[in-house]
Amino acid sequence: MKILITGGAGFIGKWLIEKIPPEVEIVVIDSLDKQVHRKSQDFAPELIARAKCIKADVQEIADYRESVEGTDVIVHLAAQTGTGQSMYEISRYVQDNANGTAKLLELISALDRKPRRIVLSSSRAVYGDGAYTNGQNVLYPKGRSLENLQRGIWEVCGSEGEILTPLPMQETHLTKPTSVYGLTKLWQEQLLENYCESQAIDLVTLRFQNVYGPKQELGNPYTGIIGIFTNAISQGSPLEIFEDGLVTRDFVFIGDVADAVIKCVADTRPLTTTINVGSGRAVTLIEVVETIAQLLHKKADFSVSGRFRVGDVRHAVADMNHYETIFGKWQPTSLKAGLAQYLEWYLHQEPLNPSTLQASLKEMEQKGLLLAKHT
Ligand SMILES: NC(=O)c1ccc[n+]([C@@H]2O[C@H](COP(=O)([O-])OP(=O)(O)OC[C@H]3O[C@@H](n4cnc5c(N)ncnc54)[C@H](O)[C@@H]3O)[C@@H](O)[C@H]2O)c1
Repeated sequence: MKILITGGAGFIGKWLIEKIPPEVEIVVIDSLDKQVHRKSQDFAPELIARAKCIKADVQEIADYRESVEGTDVIVHLAAQTGTGQSMYEISRYVQDNANGTAKLLELISALDRKPRRIVLSSSRAVYGDGAYTNGQNVLYPKGRSLENLQRGIWEVCGSEGEILTPLPMQETHLTKPTSVYGLTKLWQEQLLENYCESQAIDLVTLRFQNVYGPKQELGNPYTGIIGIFTNAISQGSPLEIFEDGLVTRDFVFIGDVADAVIKCVADTRPLTTTINVGSGRAVTLIEVVETIAQLLHKKADFSVSGRFRVGDVRHAVADMNHYETIFGKWQPTSLKAGLAQYLEWYLHQEPLNPSTLQASLKEMEQKGLLLAKHT
């Protein structure tokens, strides 16, 4: 069996490759994007030992046709991943994520033998604010207005101003991205759906929630909120939590995500579907900060600032029922157990320079994407 992994040198790729049996041939195409790979512009020795590594932009993949020929499964991970950054580096996100996928499909159409299956790493960002209920109906409200956010009304409201209750995200829910990143992930899904259907190639689209764990790049200030929180808490620095701290997210441990991807790669049944991958549990950001502090035996010096990022959604959690109907019981790692593994790794790493994070926030502020509620 031969697998092509685009973006295979990244966080999810590294974990995935470790879990692939040694008899499987692996080809990695990764541009080693400087924002993600800050320390080295070379592939890690352990990756070179395991896979054929090609340093290239996925948009140039046509140049590597020979290496891709004979691939059974493609796992498409290569992407720009910063939600906030996507709101001003728009063409870069469209190029890398949408055009990158288009170029991958053009190469596949030129191959002598087509792959059996493509696994796409999509995101919960395609749901945008997601579905809500007023207790009776499933609703897709317009989202949070700037006016409400500036008044400190953080929850999603209905047409009469009533607060609505978020529903766990189901694969059948409407897709309505609130960021350019989310849009590009949806375009990836749609490009692949359109192409794979016409070519009878299996397509498994995985919509990941917030993935965290050891080996997540700490030097990238645009992604990885758990790294940002951990940095501040471990160094005893003040920590800002946006809005009122009660934003909820579904943090899913990287080992569980890699297992889910492996299941999709290895499954021999015909399989064309879209599947959520999350822990299925919503936690507030305050709960995350307090859990990290407790595990580090520190006191978190945090404040809820009332600042907010334009385009951020208020609540996100995966409904994992569809996964369970395909693969059986989903038993995700608990947040506490996952964070304990993360912290054990983190304590041996060079922390993120606080000035890098501050610069990224300043950048968002200057673009009008990080605002404060009116006092
Ligand atoms: N980590 C998460 O929380 C999360 C959540 C939802 C979806 N995803 C998706 O999972 C995938 C992998 O994410 P990750 O967390 O491993 O990110 P990552 O940034 O660690 O890895 C992405 C890899 O892709 C490479 N890359 C970027 N643009 C490229 C291009 N144009 N050509 C070739 N290589 C390129 C980067 O160098 C990097 O090694 C992405 O598609 C992302 O959208 C991740």
